Amino acid sequence: MVESEVGWEDGKIVCELPITLPTSKVRVKRNEEPIAVRQNNLKEDDLLEWQISYYKEGKILIEVGKMLELAYQHGIISKEELEKLEDYVDKVPNVFDEDFEITKEETDKKFLGEFKIIFRHVPIIRKELYNGCFIEAELKHKQRAVGYQPMLYIFIPVQNVVSDNSLGSLIGRPAESKEIARWFPTKNDMIGTIKTFAVLSHKHRDDIIEIIKRITKS
Ligand code: ADE
Repeated sequence: MVESEVGWEDGKIVCELPITLPTSKVRVKRNEEPIAVRQNNLKEDDLLEWQISYYKEGKILIEVGKMLELAYQHGIISKEELEKLEDYVDKVPNVFDEDFEITKEETDKKFLGEFKIIFRHVPIIRKELYNGCFIEAELKHKQRAVGYQPMLYIFIPVQNVVSDNSLGSLIGRPAESKEIARWFPTKNDMIGTIKTFAVLSHKHRDDIIEIIKRITKS
């Protein structure tokens, strides 16, 4: 999968999100459904859904890991704030993948007379950020093992991003080929994302502690 580039530009952190690539971890959603951005005019409250990461192979920091590192190096997040964050993460009392499960609810209802109707309930946690951005994590069954794999997504309204081309806004037109949306995360967005990762599972919490320690020591 293509990762999204995170960099430092004119005193701000910028995330470059490819919105038209089929292999991208970014999709545009309207009413919970992905939309074809090359064929539809975008609306201001369409949401970019970004399956954001913190590491790639070799524990190299990418995406929110890189944001946190840049924020620290450029003084957006202080050492004290990182220590406070580490303290929060250290003391997380419960993790999402152990406290919740996916359940099946059987009903007495029938479809076409002969099929029983069953509902699956999938737990989701949501954290509101500012400006209409929010994070959701949901449980998935692990593909080749027992247990759950929580998956985290950050949602960003289209009105919060600017295009990399001369058109600026993405609203009221389809996306162009290979178009990139630029998003400028706030400190609250970064800390909220890190906190949510830290409550997903023990593994995620340990990863996040390692990342914070590495950044404060750098
Ligand atoms: N590990 C790295 N990225 C992740 C994501 N988006 N959700 C859950 N775990 C992850």
